[in-house]
Amino acid sequence: MSVPSRPITKAVIPAAGLGTRFLPATKATPKEMLPVVDKPAIQYVVEEAVSAGLHDVLMVTGRNKRALEDHFDRNHELEQVLRAKGDHDRLARVRESSDLATMHYVRQGDPLGLGHAVLCAAGHVGDEPFAVLLGDDLVDPRDPLLARMARLQAERGGSVIALMEIDPAQTHLYGCAAAVPTTDDDTVRILDLVEKPEPGSAPSNLAVIGRYVLDPAVFEVLKKTEPGRGGEIQLTDALQRMATDPSLGGPVHGIVFRGRRYDTGDRAAYLQAVIRLACEREDLGPGLRRWLHDFVAADR
Ligand code: G1P
Repeated sequence: MSVPSRPITKAVIPAAGLGTRFLPATKATPKEMLPVVDKPAIQYVVEEAVSAGLHDVLMVTGRNKRALEDHFDRNHELEQVLRAKGDHDRLARVRESSDLATMHYVRQGDPLGLGHAVLCAAGHVGDEPFAVLLGDDLVDPRDPLLARMARLQAERGGSVIALMEIDPAQTHLYGCAAAVPTTDDDTVRILDLVEKPEPGSAPSNLAVIGRYVLDPAVFEVLKKTEPGRGGEIQLTDALQRMATDPSLGGPVHGIVFRGRRYDTGDRAAYLQAVIRLACEREDLGPGLRRWLHDFVAADR
């Protein structure tokens, strides 16, 4: 078992996926750049890492992902135009993403799965615990999760994953956990994990959502992890081994998240996320709610 450790400072964001569910929108644009209202989805994720105190962000990218690097970099030409117009609000919004965090990039040459993407971060992360945030899951900033996970990791060592209770009919879409309660509220000890179990065979309806705080021992385990579900090297499989073999950098705990999470990885859920978040905005919300109300009523 690892000893309780230093506060984490690094976040890893896998962003090499092809985004096939959103084709043709993602033919030449990374799916992470799709707007959620008026900010790319990936910016919410980087903001979440920064809010939890993680200012060092490594993105694991692939081909066709240059827009990600450009988004978190300065755009002097655009800034110049906005400054000349005196448009200080937009200038501030353009600067926001480049001032957010210290960004680093590494390429995942082959699309061998999430576990392989995390392994690509080994050189940058080194020998300290770190966070992994998956871009398809947005966690509402009003319900901070990552900072809680980091605190738990510092107290108990090992790794911490985020879980959510889901409809049992959806378990085949997620990593699912067998877990036992601990003395802390909403905190469980993981006994087993299965990546996308066959319908009817999930160990529970506790699903892994895309937030992890990992012991660096995960890298050695990932190196030895064979391709699993979908022929890919699965992070869930590496965590399963860490949870069941105490010599591999365990324990693994889970926090059962009961806050607001938005899924932007699926078209219908993405549209719901955009509508929900736009409805809550002061500038857009009131008008959009009225319109939605009338639109739905007219369809009856
Ligand atoms: C990944 C993980 C899975 C997890 C899910 C959460 O799957 O492999 O364990 O439940 O993210 O969003 P993906 O949805 O990328 O296929």
